[in-house]
Amino acid sequence: MKKSVKRRSPKTVQESQITIHHLVTPPDLNFRGFLFGGVMLKLIDQAAFVCARKHSGSYCVTASFDRVDFKDVIHMGELITLHASVNYVGKTSMEIGVKVTAEDFEHNRIRHTNSSYVTMVAVDEKGRPVPVPSLKPETTEEIRRYKEGEARYLTRKAETKKKQPK
Ligand SMILES: CC(C)(COP(=O)(O)OP(=O)(O)OC[C@H]1O[C@@H](n2cnc3c(N)ncnc32)[C@H](O)[C@@H]1OP(=O)(O)O)[C@@H](O)C(=O)NCCC(=O)NCCS
Repeated sequence: MKKSVKRRSPKTVQESQITIHHLVTPPDLNFRGFLFGGVMLKLIDQAAFVCARKHSGSYCVTASFDRVDFKDVIHMGELITLHASVNYVGKTSMEIGVKVTAEDFEHNRIRHTNSSYVTMVAVDEKGRPVPVPSLKPETTEEIRRYKEGEARYLTRKAETKKKQPK
């Protein structure tokens, strides 16, 4: 079987779903003693990369981040958990949804601190976009995320087109 044909066979959401953890230590902190926003962006990017890499089977680059809201500060000693899964795939791009929680062991509390949609693009060794396998959403939740991801994908496409110089 040709490599390109094999890579386009559909994959489930579960096949590339990942969870990563990060314990907040002093190098992660800003001058007020809270987690730097940039550290959180890096963690979200890493989680999205691993998920996209697993789904596509190719190297991937970050094309864009949708809005990231910081709902609450995160302190030293808290455990950050990032859940990443593919919501939608286009031809060469994948929308990865990343949900972040922080666990405060002092008060035995887990809070949802951030969420983001990251668009990752599969590329070849020359950095050119390459096709990714299609996505087979199975559960009601996955089908809802797929439909919503498709709407955002089309909006991003339209916005990117508008920004291009004439
Ligand atoms: C992302 C990149 C590969 C896209 O290349 P390109 O030549 O513009 O490719 P295309 O216009 O053919 O687009 C390829 C896909 O990317 C998507 N895309 C391109 N720009 C995008 C953006 N700003 N936001 C979301 N998706 C984008 C397109 O919609 C298309 O998706 P599809 O194939 O699923 O329909 C290229 O712009 C790049 O290499 N950027 C730098 C990436 C980088 O350095 N990231 C940080 C470090 S990893």
